[in-house]
Amino acid sequence: MFHTGSLETSALVRDACWVRLPGSPMLEHSKNQLLTRVGAGTPMGDLLRRYWMPVAAVSEFESTSIKPVRVMGEDLTLYKDMSGTFGLVGRHCPHRCADMSYGFVEQCGLRCNYHGWLFDRDGRCLEQPYEDVAQPEARFREKIRITAYPVETRGGLIWAYLGPEPAPLVPNWEPFTWKNGFVQIVFADVPCNWLQCQENSVDPLHFEWMHMNWSVRLKDKGGPYSPRHLKLAFEEFDYGIVYRRIREGMSEEDPMWKVGRVCLWPNALFTGDHFEWRVPIDDENTLSVTWCFSRVPKRREPYVQDQIPAWRGPVRDADTGRLISSHVMNQDFVAWVGQGVIPDRTHEHLGTSDTGIIMMRQRFLKDIEAIARGEDPKATVRDPELNRCLTLPIAERKNLVEGLTLEELAKHPLGSGQLNDYVFQAGQPPEVRAAYAKAMGLAE
Ligand code: FES
Ligand SMILES: [Fe+2]
Repeated sequence: MFHTGSLETSALVRDACWVRLPGSPMLEHSKNQLLTRVGAGTPMGDLLRRYWMPVAAVSEFESTSIKPVRVMGEDLTLYKDMSGTFGLVGRHCPHRCADMSYGFVEQCGLRCNYHGWLFDRDGRCLEQPYEDVAQPEARFREKIRITAYPVETRGGLIWAYLGPEPAPLVPNWEPFTWKNGFVQIVFADVPCNWLQCQENSVDPLHFEWMHMNWSVRLKDKGGPYSPRHLKLAFEEFDYGIVYRRIREGMSEEDPMWKVGRVCLWPNALFTGDHFEWRVPIDDENTLSVTWCFSRVPKRREPYVQDQIPAWRGPVRDADTGRLISSHVMNQDFVAWVGQGVIPDRTHEHLGTSDTGIIMMRQRFLKDIEAIARGEDPKATVRDPELNRCLTLPIAERKNLVEGLTLEELAKHPLGSGQLNDYVFQAGQPPEVRAAYAKAMGLAE
């Protein structure tokens, strides 16, 4: 039995002309194109530009001041100037197109290394060293601008907004306000389109097969298989779609049914202790960004993290070239990349387990129309009062906020995997592991 959250969504799923559940070919070619293309001026690209995207970590700028980034098909330069201000400008200098990511920062702004033009975070040209001397009356620099986008920091991440003004607020999701946590940020470069990655955020069934049962087989065991899913439900709310599950042996009192998990709008998964954003690099590449919160054991309180480490994990095995399958998100990457760089969704045969995916595609299509009418799309945050803390459905809120003892944590799903290894992604550097262990009190 499947539930959808509102009459409106139920009607959408029932009436959509391009879907007949179950088992029919799914998305016509033109809609697949529409939903997967992310460049400026494309309908989905313009919709995604209405949201802040995490593009880097603050701690990356302890060892560098400039980083080239590519976001939704745009080559950009992210920098932190000598006053500590972050800026995001175009990759190429408006003078003669030199690569600004090889420039150097000044007290205020970023200077091109070719002829020294200096730009501030708003894209204004502050100096043209030769023109300013040779022909100051021409005021040439006042006519020059470089592409510039707003950036903000939150939760140790650097967020970029590539859309029209006025920009909404950077969402202050509830876990960003939590205390006594060790947070790490993890990146991966995934060579496929963003949409199939995000569709995974509303696909509870894959957990049973891709993570549980496949892991059993990867260890060369014949079983036993994990409890089967018996019932799924999907429900839209202000910030996404909640999905709920009942598996064999579970009752409707289980938090996985009563609270569920969150497909967070527009491009993330939120499980309670971590977020996973799927940020489009371009049509054919996605930056996976994980923000993972490990609540320290009670006796480690009060714990204040002085630096949120960030690391980048490999996607392929260096020796074999095959995709890594040992960790949870790497297994997801296997699914996403395996679907093809941009899957041909005309070949799909969606079943009832795919109800959430249909809801998500329908909402994106409706929001493409909404922004064309001048309206804000779903999950746009503009109220500063509300944004003091955006609460989300969190099955484990009590344990994450109030904490557990180390002994309790060792027996709990929140800690049992994490205490021995970072289970979500391969490649955690030893120094991050050591910082985690110290924070958790494991090293003493
Ligand atoms: S190309 Fe940048 S200053 Fe000349
Ligand atoms: Fe997964």
